Amino acid sequence: MPAISMKVNGQAVCGEVENRTLLVEFLRNNLGLTGTHVGCDTSQCGACVVHVNGKAIKSCTTLAVACDGADVTTIEGLSKDGKLHPMQQAFHENHGLQCGFCTPGMIMSAVDMVKRKGKKLDDDTIRHELEGNICRCTGYQNIVAAVKAGAENM
Ligand code: FES
Ligand code: FES
Repeated sequence: MPAISMKVNGQAVCGEVENRTLLVEFLRNNLGLTGTHVGCDTSQCGACVVHVNGKAIKSCTTLAVACDGADVTTIEGLSKDGKLHPMQQAFHENHGLQCGFCTPGMIMSAVDMVKRKGKKLDDDTIRHELEGNICRCTGYQNIVAAVKAGAENM
């Protein structure tokens, strides 16, 4: 089996994986980072979004071997010194979740959105940018409010 190594949330990690092992499987099963969820396995729902080399990707359709040597950030890597990331705090304060299953992917996509689009985001932009993230609970209104508030505080 191929051996891979990468940086995950600032820590050097390594492991042996099959060629077919997905990044999300490596994160969840090998590293125990279960904050990254699998909702569909077909690149539809966005529950599995993580950052690879600074860009949001869907880890359910990315091979772990393709991330050999990469710098990966998961939802577990966003908070610093025991303080929530501003986007996490905004989801908390705006009640941008109900069951929470979609939330890690929503937050990782939102952080990437701010990096690409800036801190002043209107509702249409947020909704368009989140088209790859599905929420089955909230109706999206509070998610949009959370992303807008989180963006301003980043
Ligand atoms: Fe990856 Fe749904 S689990 S997009
Ligand atoms: Fe339940 Fe979004 S909060 S799927």
